[in-house]
Amino acid sequence: MLRIADKIKKLGTETAFAVSAEAAAFAAKGNKVYPFHIGDMNFSTPSTVVNGTIKAIHDGKTGYCPTTGIPQLREAIADDINAARGTNYSIENVAVQPGGKPTIGKFILALVNPGEEVLYPNPGYPIYESQIEFNGAVAVPYTFVEGKNNFVFDIDAIKEKITAKTKVIILNDLHNPSGAEFSKKDLEALAAVAIEHDLIVLSDEAYFDIRYEGKSISIASVPGMQERTVILYSFSKRFAMTGWRLGATIAPKEIIDVIAKLNVNDESCSNHFIQYGAIEGLRGDQTEVKKILSVLKERRDAGVQILNSIRGVNCFNPNATFYLFPNVTELMKNKGFSDYELFRKDILHNTGVSFCTRIHFGRPLPGEKNYYIRIAYSGINLNELTEGLNKFKDYINSPDEKTVSKKSVLSLSHL
Ligand SMILES: Cc1ncc(COP(=O)(O)O)c(C=O)c1O
Repeated sequence: MLRIADKIKKLGTETAFAVSAEAAAFAAKGNKVYPFHIGDMNFSTPSTVVNGTIKAIHDGKTGYCPTTGIPQLREAIADDINAARGTNYSIENVAVQPGGKPTIGKFILALVNPGEEVLYPNPGYPIYESQIEFNGAVAVPYTFVEGKNNFVFDIDAIKEKITAKTKVIILNDLHNPSGAEFSKKDLEALAAVAIEHDLIVLSDEAYFDIRYEGKSISIASVPGMQERTVILYSFSKRFAMTGWRLGATIAPKEIIDVIAKLNVNDESCSNHFIQYGAIEGLRGDQTEVKKILSVLKERRDAGVQILNSIRGVNCFNPNATFYLFPNVTELMKNKGFSDYELFRKDILHNTGVSFCTRIHFGRPLPGEKNYYIRIAYSGINLNELTEGLNKFKDYINSPDEKTVSKKSVLSLSHL
């Protein structure tokens, strides 16, 4: 009889992919679907990257390469990080990876012992919780609250969660799914805490360059932090390269040496020829990269405007990432929903609008009072975005109660 190893029971997943599959099945039946559920991108990868990669294939860069990546790319990444973050990394601090995601599991494997505590954002990218628990560590969630213009992290609440067993704190700055970000003051306060308690920080910077206003800051640039920070660096979003699978771990050399060993055991090396394309992306003309950002900004502005015109919706206008995380508590209450999945499916089936909800971003926390959905606008054109969200609006604002069984009292039935 086939018996899967017990430890696999602890491994979580990214349930956004299940929402994608459901939306695809609905579309396959001839229905129109408006895809707001996944942070994939409907942009062409910049021609600098494409041409550099094709040239590398023709030049025969098709064999194995060094496990931490080709030196020219490691150098280009270190230069890019230093220019944008004011840090002082060199090639020995960079290990190329097949995507940003591998850094999460490898980081925990390299630094956290079973039983040690890891602070992580929740709602947040679900792979943190999955990898922490899979590796036998204790997942300690911290959250954020609604501020005046955006969600804000409560640094004092984070500090209160630190115990003698806390080893690591995971930051996702800029944050998926909320678009929240730490201010410079927040980062300095967190850095002081990390230094005082001798914590290592994983700074997931997958969205560092997806910014429309202001300037991104990395905790690694706060004095004393470069030596205790690991940066998750990714080409996926900035260069519309989600399917290419390229990223890097940026860390002190002792950590990179361990990561290199994990790379050898896992994949030997990242795709060789893509690395030449990535160098062209970093060092070459940035016109197409800038165009991606300006198109995303148009979508954000339209999305925020329509969402806020829907009865019972309150949506911030974040300066960064390509996600909106509207509060839909009143809307769900008005429509008689107390269950996220019933609500999500009802909207999909009646309007074709497909999105993830708070429950796709980590286990809900006790005492949560508000309901949120996540609208990803990276994979949908402006016309479709406008059409889809207006359908959602018309459906919600219509006095006609088409929705499923009404439940008058809003209860957190997902807990
Ligand atoms: C917060 C966050 N971190 C990491 C990743 C991983 O991205 P990738 O592996 O495509 O670089 C994602 C992808 O959506 C993300 O949202």
